[in-house]
Amino acid sequence: MAEDTTKSTPVEAKADTISLTIDGRAVTVPKGTTLLNAAASLGIYIPTLCWHPKLKAVGACRVCYVEVEKWPKLAVACATEATDGMVVHTASDQVKKGRRAVIEFILANHPLDCPTCDQAGECELQNVTFAYCIDDSRFEFRKSRFVEEGMTTTFDDLRIGPELILNRNRCLLCYKCVRANKEAFGEHDLGVYERGNITRIGPAPGRQVTNPFSGNLAEICPVGALTSADWRYKIRVWLTTSVPSVCNFTSSGSNILLYKEDHKNHIYRTTSRTNDDIDDGWLADVSRYGYQVATSPERLPEPLIKKDGKQVPASWEEAMELIHKRFTEIQQTMGRVCIGGLIAPNLDNASLYGFSKFFRTVLNSNNIDFRCDYPMLPSVGDSVFSRLCRQPFRIADIDDSDVIVAFGSDLIREHPNEYLRIRRARTFGKPRIYSINPFSVKSADVSDLELVYRAGADELALTGICLAAVEENLVDSAMADEFKSKVAPNTLAEAAAACGVDEAELRIVARALAEGRKVSFIVGELVTRSVARESIGAAVANLDRMFGIRGKGQLSVLARQANSRGAEKMGVLPEPAAPTREKLTALWGMFPDSQANNSDAMLALMKKEEISGLFVVGSNPIMLYPDQEFVREGLGKLDFLVVCDLFETETTALADVVLPLSSWAEYDGEYVNLEGRVQSARRAIRPVGKSRPAYEIIMALADKFGTDAFPSLEQLSLEAGCLLDVNDQPPLPDEFLEVKPAVEEPDKEYPLPIFVCDDPHHRGHLTEKAPSLANFASEAYVELSPGLAVEGNLSDGDLVRVESETGKIIVAARISEHLENNCLLVPCNFSATPVMSLLMRKRRINRVKISKVDD
Ligand code: FES
Repeated sequence: MAEDTTKSTPVEAKADTISLTIDGRAVTVPKGTTLLNAAASLGIYIPTLCWHPKLKAVGACRVCYVEVEKWPKLAVACATEATDGMVVHTASDQVKKGRRAVIEFILANHPLDCPTCDQAGECELQNVTFAYCIDDSRFEFRKSRFVEEGMTTTFDDLRIGPELILNRNRCLLCYKCVRANKEAFGEHDLGVYERGNITRIGPAPGRQVTNPFSGNLAEICPVGALTSADWRYKIRVWLTTSVPSVCNFTSSGSNILLYKEDHKNHIYRTTSRTNDDIDDGWLADVSRYGYQVATSPERLPEPLIKKDGKQVPASWEEAMELIHKRFTEIQQTMGRVCIGGLIAPNLDNASLYGFSKFFRTVLNSNNIDFRCDYPMLPSVGDSVFSRLCRQPFRIADIDDSDVIVAFGSDLIREHPNEYLRIRRARTFGKPRIYSINPFSVKSADVSDLELVYRAGADELALTGICLAAVEENLVDSAMADEFKSKVAPNTLAEAAAACGVDEAELRIVARALAEGRKVSFIVGELVTRSVARESIGAAVANLDRMFGIRGKGQLSVLARQANSRGAEKMGVLPEPAAPTREKLTALWGMFPDSQANNSDAMLALMKKEEISGLFVVGSNPIMLYPDQEFVREGLGKLDFLVVCDLFETETTALADVVLPLSSWAEYDGEYVNLEGRVQSARRAIRPVGKSRPAYEIIMALADKFGTDAFPSLEQLSLEAGCLLDVNDQPPLPDEFLEVKPAVEEPDKEYPLPIFVCDDPHHRGHLTEKAPSLANFASEAYVELSPGLAVEGNLSDGDLVRVESETGKIIVAARISEHLENNCLLVPCNFSATPVMSLLMRKRRINRVKISKVDD
């Protein structure tokens, strides 16, 4: 008789678990569980200093001592694996004695400067000292001290990074900072030096800790050895209240806490609010210090209206009256829809929905768009590229993926959380990781292989991987024939030569994708920004079909901004996806059939004076839209421009009415992250000056237009909530798509491809107002490879003239060791440098020439 295999299940399950007794209580845990975690599963607390849940344990501090029966010595709970039959005591006299001794040793050299230490109130050493009632010391010698020249034993504060202060005397050498920096962030700018009682942590000689995750180091320091310059000596932690919020600068929506003080209506800092599904408790610096945008003294205090060519302060009532009057006049004079709207995708759902509803139901206009910094986007929400943007993606699913690919993505700049997640998968598992880009990226440091293809050859690289699968016989012949009939070139050798990647490398990726059991395939910003995104999207869809990626994992174009997915769901597109449009029609009982123009088409119509009024909320198209001249010309032809923003910008300078906008920290709001997860951000402070949230401005304006369709925020939120459930994840085509890209000829006069991107410490146009982020980078630069630097006789910091057909900028050179080819990178985050003037919006690859500016 055949064996009943189900009977073996409990035996197998038992083989994976072990049972032990802790403080007299039996517990069964998976094999490999540490004593610390086994105790935690029973709710038993064991103090720790050097342990961190997301790092490998090192057992450095010994404060987590426990007693294991029959063991000759105490064991460290954080680094000792529980075994079957163990009998453990966590609060015996021997344990208490051991822990007291450890703490006493730590305190032997630790300064008792709690009254002036910023960590006081949340110091882990203070807590364990308190818990073990240690109020005396048996040591009679003077405490060992680091004292830098000009400093005191207490205030031996070294600035080791733009935002990091190190006090070596407080350091208890738990190595959490050094381990996190290396293991979790892949950075090597902090290390351990010397031996014995002069052991110290610090940056490499002559260097600073400048990595984009550096703020975490202060947050995880258990004492006040590493503190954040941003938070130091400003307020005691117990005088603040923390408010749960989400990051407004990354699309994964890192969970954060904003520490505020009501009397001063001020936010003092941000810390993580661990969400293992999203951020693992780590924050990129832009998420940590971005709150300073809200507290900037440069915020617009009140509405402005243009009188005699000058913007002068006005009341909200006066401004609203004027907008109503002018928009009505324009509609009546033109006799058709001639008003457009641009809104930033970092606003909350209610504001985005209200904007869409106002334009469609009050102005009868479909001319709305949230994508103000991408050229030539498709108007239609159901294009292949748009469909790829809405494919499901879960950040946590990266963890157990056995093949991970980042295509067209400089991950650290675009998706820092996802980069850390991939790094964690590398640290704790054995995934095969590939980075495929037109230039080498730092985030490829976790990759098994980095493929760098010729700029503009995105489809060819993707097609090359598929052709490698064909040649390696990884797909059946019918599929191979169908694919080859749709693409050109259609041999691996030709595709490899055309994209500039070795055939062997393409074969490696093809084999991994074919063999992978769970694949995470990320398509990034370099594709989204490209005017060839539809063609590249078709090549991505072909690759997905050939390897069945979504059937065994996930593949998506990741959204870039905090609420880009929310903006799509709220229908803030000229032509929303069909299910969203249906829902909107049901909610409103109508949907305008007027012309639908995207941001690019609107700007073109402004130039032709066919759109005469524009309402801009939170966007700065002059700074962020590729082809600055085109934008200026368009806006310059408007009869009436209204701009809502937090600050004066290049775009507000042209406006007839400027309205002060509240930041996300000043009202309760909901946001949809790149996974489609809805998250709430609670209000931390009252609106700054006379600023108002976008939804409030829209509702007040709707009221002026005499509609009662915007009765309350609750009603607006309710309607917005109805759209969240709409399934807007469309299928991809079930056939191979034609992909036959034209090959661009090299440009002799302007030979160097240039890519505009975010600085790793900045996002968009707002973060330059955050002083901590400005401490890392406050002006534009051109990043280039060491090879190009040698060719141009350039050193780090030299001034470089960067010229294209349309514009010229002079910026400092920044030589990046990881950059290898002739591509240049320029950040778009600094208003003083008109980076976008270098670009032509219809050009696939913009090219420039560079020359050293001699004094
Ligand atoms: Fe276990 Fe430090 S927490 S040794």
